[in-house]
Amino acid sequence: MSPENSTTDKSLNPFQRPRRLRRTATLRRMVRENTLTVNDLIYPMFVTEGEGQLVEIASMPGCYRYSLDLLLKEIAEVSELGINAIALFPVIPENKKDDTATQSYNPDGLVQQTVKAIKQAIPEIVVITDVALDPFTTHGHDGLVDENGTILNDHTVEVLVKMALSQAAAGTNFVAPSDMMDGRVGAIRQALDAEGYINVGILAYSAKYASAYYGPFRDALDSAPKFGDKKTYQMDAANAKEALKEIELDIAEGADIVMVKPALAYLDIICQVKEATNLPVAAYNVSGEYAMIKAAGQMGWIDEKQVILESLTSMKRAGADLILTYFAKEVALMLM
Ligand code: PBG
Repeated sequence: MSPENSTTDKSLNPFQRPRRLRRTATLRRMVRENTLTVNDLIYPMFVTEGEGQLVEIASMPGCYRYSLDLLLKEIAEVSELGINAIALFPVIPENKKDDTATQSYNPDGLVQQTVKAIKQAIPEIVVITDVALDPFTTHGHDGLVDENGTILNDHTVEVLVKMALSQAAAGTNFVAPSDMMDGRVGAIRQALDAEGYINVGILAYSAKYASAYYGPFRDALDSAPKFGDKKTYQMDAANAKEALKEIELDIAEGADIVMVKPALAYLDIICQVKEATNLPVAAYNVSGEYAMIKAAGQMGWIDEKQVILESLTSMKRAGADLILTYFAKEVALMLM
């Protein structure tokens, strides 16, 4: 009898022995249900004005604000690694912010210029641009604010539409409304179609929670709200059915891809959303999730690489087809 197939450890004799399929790496690969690949990854990147600028974000070690020249080099590199898409976020200097986010729809604004340059230099990379006012407003909210501090919905959507159109004109592939205003996906879809941008997709931040996990991202953009919080537009962490309602609305309004954000504390939502739709589902592995793993890794308290792979694999298992993650480049290198 071959030693591989027999053992003296057989007093119990259960009918099913699930460990049979976990015995060797080969067997484990054969029965593996989910596999993380580079095709799942979307890389969020921060662009800043100027030239030769590469500034590490203190609370996101390994993530940088890039000026356009260096951003293009980095995108060329990540594209070589097989990453298909980037999500772009602008760092707007304080003196260009105002109450109404005027710079958000400037045809020659930072995002618009950056998109044009990327599409010229590396046309194959899919470019996703965020649609929300917070990087552009002095108060740091995603929408327009009235004199009582209320975030206005419909007036905000008018600005979001202008912003999305300016990004489409610059050549973006997907606009990604992350503002959580009601009705914005439909308004943006109609406006894009009316202007002939039928191939510009909408990646909708459909179930976006009011989350403390966004802290490091707001450091990266200097975009923390100056008063109050985002709880009148982003969702309550306690709710799941509401996520399905938001998803349903965004699909009806024309979303091409729906997203759940954050990811790790919301795997149950990813799972339910995946069951509720046949559209691709994206998950955003947000800045705070990144920062926690990096910090514990730097302290030597966890095996950072293994924790990254385990976390992202859990998002796939939950049902995510796409994962926005600051780990994208690292993971692409690990998967090679
Ligand atoms: C802007 C926006 C935010 C994030 C993505 N787009 C911040 C916020 O809503 O306050 C967070 C991303 C992250 O934390 O990684 N609306």
